[in-house]
Amino acid sequence: MSPILGAASPPDALVRDFANDVRRDLALTPKQIQSKYLYDALGSCLFEAISRLPWYRITRAEGKLLGRCSQDVVASLADPLTLIELGCGSGEKVAMLAEALSRRRRPASVHLIDISPTALELSERTLGRFEHVSVVGHRATYEEGLRRVAGQRSGNGAVLVLFLGSNIGNFDPPAAHEFLSEIRGSLRPGDGLLLGADLVKPEPALLAAYDDPLGVTAAFNKNLLARMNRELAADFDLAAFAHRAVWNREHSRVEMHLVSRRAQQVTIPKADCTVRFDAEEFIWTENSYKYAPEQIVAMGVAAGFRARQQWIEPDARFALTLFVAE
Ligand SMILES: C[S@@+](CC[C@H](N)C(=O)[O-])C[C@H]1O[C@@H](n2cnc3c(N)ncnc32)[C@H](O)[C@@H]1O
Repeated sequence: MSPILGAASPPDALVRDFANDVRRDLALTPKQIQSKYLYDALGSCLFEAISRLPWYRITRAEGKLLGRCSQDVVASLADPLTLIELGCGSGEKVAMLAEALSRRRRPASVHLIDISPTALELSERTLGRFEHVSVVGHRATYEEGLRRVAGQRSGNGAVLVLFLGSNIGNFDPPAAHEFLSEIRGSLRPGDGLLLGADLVKPEPALLAAYDDPLGVTAAFNKNLLARMNRELAADFDLAAFAHRAVWNREHSRVEMHLVSRRAQQVTIPKADCTVRFDAEEFIWTENSYKYAPEQIVAMGVAAGFRARQQWIEPDARFALTLFVAE
């Protein structure tokens, strides 16, 4: 078995947190589960597959922009530079910045923050090829990881926080403001934030990215039910739920749902609950907000940054924005 899918079961404290969140959020109307729980070992591998699908263009578009602007991004930041990536996934993107630094023989340290041990393993492997780069992985939420790394800061070099892949789109607007302000609060003048965010585009393209014809995104979403079966001893019948992606125009977000195909009852022993579903009732599993370029600039400015430059990939409609702390 591959070391990734054979990863050890999660520590008891994390299973307890998962159980408490599931019990609380499945009692809400509509029922919900936080999107961070999509990323267990299998979920991270499924996301890597999604990022290669022709219908999911975010990863390629952002990679193209990074290929073009990495040198400009790191040019004005003081050495020795510290890169902090929030939700690193495979680490391919931070590697492009590490490459830009290594071409100029600039030393750097990289802190990888991700809730998924599989993502950290992949990223550490990806960055292993850079001799001059020291890498530290933190299995933590964005907020915990950022606090931990900011608390350990020493020396005079600049920090560049990377929040890529439109991870910001999983936050609703008040939470996005709060989190960007928290990032700003952890930085000093001269530091930067590189924010990757997906732009509004025609509805068919948006929906195909979250409901692909191969069913990989459906598997990614339904893995949440399989995860509850594995970790919380739940008895979800995966065939009794359907994956659904919806474009909510009013709120400018794609929502992912798991829709109950019939009335049913599910028990989740380790979360100490039984949950009833009506036919067509759904669990809301993810929001992916989509933006206008000027909205992204406004979000950063409202959090206390100055926007230095924005790069836009015009075909897939994706934006990378470099903010600076002053
Ligand atoms: C959509 S993927 C994007 C990965 C990468 N940034 C990219 O652009 O390809 C989101 C990543 O963030 C991690 N993640 C999701 N929610 C998180 C949270 N609340 N705290 C820390 N990591 C999180 C996931 O494990 C996953 O690796």
